[in-house]
Amino acid sequence: MTAVWVLNGPNLNLLGVREPETYGTTTLTGVEKACRAVTDELGWDLDFRQTNSEGELVDWVQQAGAAQRAGELVGVVLNAGAYTHTSIALADAVAGGGARIIEVHISNVHARESFRHHSFVSAHAAGIIIGLGVAGYPLAIRALAAVIPD
Ligand code: DQA
Repeated sequence: MTAVWVLNGPNLNLLGVREPETYGTTTLTGVEKACRAVTDELGWDLDFRQTNSEGELVDWVQQAGAAQRAGELVGVVLNAGAYTHTSIALADAVAGGGARIIEVHISNVHARESFRHHSFVSAHAAGIIIGLGVAGYPLAIRALAAVIPD
């Protein structure tokens, strides 16, 4: 197992300019750099992606499951953005796809609008990191290192 995939959903391409009071000023490229520093330290490959498309995110989660079954993938760090709160298709992919998922949210969704309080992903995730800003991403990679079986 050598790879980690970090999958970002809709609007996360706008990090750095989007509602900086909520999401901070670090860009998605900056997040990728912080993730790569950890994967380099752990000796893992990093595949870092973003899409605004629900179907593409579902495809990636399914592909991650196949890569994990093939012994190539440690797991996935998933910030599904607003699809977290809306997408049963994504929840089904997380539940049935077979990939180990750490769910991440930059903001504390529980301190925000009530429609952000429910996640369709959480019930099927190996763990959840919420509200620690973009620092949650590298922490999620370290969490994968902590939970993988020997
Ligand atoms: C988010 C929280 C979601 O509610 C929101 O739709 C996002 C970002 C976060 O990282 O805090 O796009 O997932």
